[in-house]
Amino acid sequence: MKVECITPKNTSLLIQARQKVNPDEGKTQEEFAAEAEKYAIAGDRKAFVMLGNSGVIGYILVLAIGAVPEAIPDGKHFSSYAHISKIGVDQAFRRKGVGKILLVHAEAWAKARSMKGIWLDYLPETEGLAEFYSNAEYRKILDFEDAKKGKVKLRRIAAKGFKTE
Ligand SMILES: CC(C)(COP(=O)(O)OP(=O)(O)OC[C@H]1O[C@@H](n2cnc3c(N)ncnc32)[C@H](O)[C@@H]1OP(=O)(O)O)[C@@H](O)C(=O)NCCC(=O)NCCS
Repeated sequence: MKVECITPKNTSLLIQARQKVNPDEGKTQEEFAAEAEKYAIAGDRKAFVMLGNSGVIGYILVLAIGAVPEAIPDGKHFSSYAHISKIGVDQAFRRKGVGKILLVHAEAWAKARSMKGIWLDYLPETEGLAEFYSNAEYRKILDFEDAKKGKVKLRRIAAKGFKTE
């Protein structure tokens, strides 16, 4: 296994990973391509992809400028935190440490930018996410009801501050 950082030369890896892991996200090939291009070029975000023997098996997207949801009462606190917008590992390769390795890469990127930690939000009902982040020492900040496209879903915000040496 090998982690690749997405650059303008290998955006196809991220497109493949997104299509493979999140085919039901409702995005077109063009939208995945535009997303990959942005992560490859923009200085305020980074994407990492895990390559296995037979191709891509997971990815993570991290940003230095996540818009903190209004639901967080002390949202300003997180303005110096990076934000993980998405993570996904191919079903066939889960529980083998792939997600953890990708998360460590995203955290290292944020630390190198002197960010104070990482916050993220996710649907706690999504398989594995709550346990995965809790295992990686992300603590729940709050749950809130998020109304999108007429559906109300419970979202969880969690965060981890980096230890200072
Ligand atoms: C969450 C996810 C990224 C975890 O990836 P992964 O490669 O399987 O995770 P890891 O193997 O690195 O797991 C590390 C630890 O997290 C915990 N963990 C991960 N998945 C878990 C699960 N399904 N149940 C319980 N604990 C879990 C465990 O403690 C695990 O360590 P262990 O296997 O030694 O017990 C993966 O399950 C996934 O892609 N889920 C779908 C996410 C999704 O829908 N993303 C799109 C929107 S953001």
